Amino acid sequence: MFETLTKAPGDKILALMGEYAADPRPTKIDLGVGVYKDEQGVTAVMSAVRKAEQRILQNEKTKTYLGIAGNKGFGAAVLDLALADSVDRSRVRIAQAPGGTGSLWVLMQLVNRARPGATVWVSDPTWPNHNPIAENSGLKVKTYPYFDTETRGVRFEQMLAALDGLGKDDVVLLHGCCHNPTGANLTPDQWDKVAASLARTGALPFIDLAYLGFGDGLVEDAYGTRKVLASVPEALVAFSGSKNFGLYRERVGAAILVARDAAQADIAQSQLLNIIRGAYSQPPDHGAEIIRTILEDAALRVEWEAELNLMRGRMIRLREKLSEAIRQRSNSKDFDFIAAHRGMFSLLGLDNSVVEHLKANNGIYMIGDSRINVAGIPEDRVGELADALLNAIK
Ligand code: LMR
Repeated sequence: MFETLTKAPGDKILALMGEYAADPRPTKIDLGVGVYKDEQGVTAVMSAVRKAEQRILQNEKTKTYLGIAGNKGFGAAVLDLALADSVDRSRVRIAQAPGGTGSLWVLMQLVNRARPGATVWVSDPTWPNHNPIAENSGLKVKTYPYFDTETRGVRFEQMLAALDGLGKDDVVLLHGCCHNPTGANLTPDQWDKVAASLARTGALPFIDLAYLGFGDGLVEDAYGTRKVLASVPEALVAFSGSKNFGLYRERVGAAILVARDAAQADIAQSQLLNIIRGAYSQPPDHGAEIIRTILEDAALRVEWEAELNLMRGRMIRLREKLSEAIRQRSNSKDFDFIAAHRGMFSLLGLDNSVVEHLKANNGIYMIGDSRINVAGIPEDRVGELADALLNAIK
């Protein structure tokens, strides 16, 4: 049977992870896949996570099933964390899902049940996995203007004009914060305008909230999501606990839906649960139980937030250091945008040939579109990195 198949394209982010691992050069630098790294270049287990795991190990009495929507305490805690009181909970339903990707997947399936073949509008550019998730769910993908390659900011006027032209059968995928891959984000005022546009056109907002707490803070990063949800009758949110809890391989996320009223929310949730049951039956619990334990315990929560604050502060410091080092060496402000961006990534706007050159000559790995993971910058080698970048673009 398999002779009918042709080779599928690889994922450029995960393929680069493999290439980096196979590179024997001890001086190599990994600015590729989006995982946080500390000063030692290690993606450590967060201390609050470790303590929660110990508690779970001691207290867990059973491994029996929890049900299709997963860990209920986790669901309630995630709604408090991400949505707060932005929308009446009687209209909100949540189902735990495997990671941000699993959450996106089940929600895209839900969209396709509601509007078969609908168009999902994604930012230009967006995370490369958005398109396959939507297309594999039977949906069409089109782009709206987003990144300005001159200013490395958001082309907001063009973005808003595109959104204003959409209708009630359209779905708009928005990055709730920390845009991936660009690092360029909407201001609160711009979020207000996007929310007003969505309320006017009736297009369905679908928010990918994978980096909550990695930009300006837990509350600041939730502004856009909460504003949109407070403004529209229906919305979807895919939440991820991979980055902010450092739980990458545990695959913990949540699919959230907001409906017009409780009765429609129940119907939509029944479809969502039906999708999950027919796909993987129920989500794995471990990561969700860790997050529930942390968010429900005052001391663990304080510890987690403090660690998250440190991680965010480190990423902002690395941004400032790299743009400062480039400014000093080049006497130009061309890379100041790195300090202005927020989240884990910045899109440098380099040609692919420059990206390949940096990999081959300097062992500096970034995604082919020139996205860097700022958490991968070794703090004691910022000058070396600035030299390599400036040499490569000469
Ligand atoms: C990334 O964008 O690097 C991360 O979200 C990891 C992934 O799965 O692509």
